[in-house]
Amino acid sequence: MSGLDIGIDLGTTSIIVYLGNKGIVLSEPSVIAVDMRREEVLTVGEKAFEMIGKTPSYIIAERPLKNGVISNHVLTEYMIREYIKRICGTLMIKPRISICIPSSTTKVEADAVVDAAVKAGARKVYLLEEPIAAAIGAGIDITKANGVLIVDIGGGTTDIAVISLSGIVSSRSVRCAGQTFDQAIIDYVRNTYKILIGERMAEKVKIEIASAYSADPQKTIEVKGRHLLKGLPEKLLISQAELYPVIREQAMMIVDAVKEVLESTPPELVGDIYTNGITLTGGGALLGGFGELLESEIGVHVVVAENPLNCVAIGAGKSFEYLDDLNQGFSDAIMHTH
Ligand SMILES: Nc1ncnc2c1ncn2[C@@H]1O[C@H](COP(=O)(O)OP(=O)(O)OP(=O)(O)O)[C@@H](O)[C@H]1O
Ligand SMILES: [Mg+2]
Repeated sequence: MSGLDIGIDLGTTSIIVYLGNKGIVLSEPSVIAVDMRREEVLTVGEKAFEMIGKTPSYIIAERPLKNGVISNHVLTEYMIREYIKRICGTLMIKPRISICIPSSTTKVEADAVVDAAVKAGARKVYLLEEPIAAAIGAGIDITKANGVLIVDIGGGTTDIAVISLSGIVSSRSVRCAGQTFDQAIIDYVRNTYKILIGERMAEKVKIEIASAYSADPQKTIEVKGRHLLKGLPEKLLISQAELYPVIREQAMMIVDAVKEVLESTPPELVGDIYTNGITLTGGGALLGGFGELLESEIGVHVVVAENPLNCVAIGAGKSFEYLDDLNQGFSDAIMHTH
């Protein structure tokens, strides 16, 4: 692979960039801060993330991609342009870029992303379907006539796809993923204790103790929030056991969607999947007990990919090796040459 090929995972939660011979060179929150008075981008990524909820009225700091879709394409365009400029600035020759965008992106939004990349200095831009990138990044040879099932659990959406001969045979995308679990935890604490906790606190609870498969009352975490009636700050200890039904309910929505995909998959490929197992990618793949739950409900061996958070970016970067085979993956790709 040329050192000048770049893969980008434009996710709802984070944007991750893989550069040819270097590997992952950037991983930051998908957040942008704009000064509305001057109509100027202030910053992107980590610094913009810290500004969320703390800005004066003339500054907006927000996620331009929400719930797995591009909710503000102008800001998305600005954000991607900033990042590509940052990376291209260090390169002597214009790179080829392969970008993964959310599966429900419209043609207009996709064009905006491609345009932004070209303006920021790309020589050629390819759009790649996320499950294809996730599979390549998980180290799977996608070119064989051998069905593989990928479940990519991101922040906003879970993408489930059966891949064979470099193309997607059947797929489904559901709006149940990392952030859904965070929200379910917020709702549970509010309804049970009348305490409001923030998104970051809920995510911490999820990462540290939540499980879709075990309910240990000894596993606890202290949460801080604001009491809804008293209006004052309050601390509280919550356990894995009490959260278990809440987490499991959400996790089952993903399990059911996997079942539906299997039901619409040709039998020969279902046979392959029983042999090959199911591969989990995306940050949500790290949710405690999810692999076990899926394995017990479907009866197929489940593997969490190595580096699940980086799979899509790695796969996008490596997709250039498959350029000739990726008929379907690159088919909707608007190939822009500058
Ligand atoms: N150890 C962990 N346990 C549970 N969830 C985790 C863990 N680490 C990260 N996550 C969750 O993974 C999600 C982010 O995953 P990822 O970076 O794959 O999403 P994304 O690609 O930005 O989103 P999308 O694919 O929906 O656009 C977040 O909701 C985060 O809370
Ligand atoms: Mg993703």
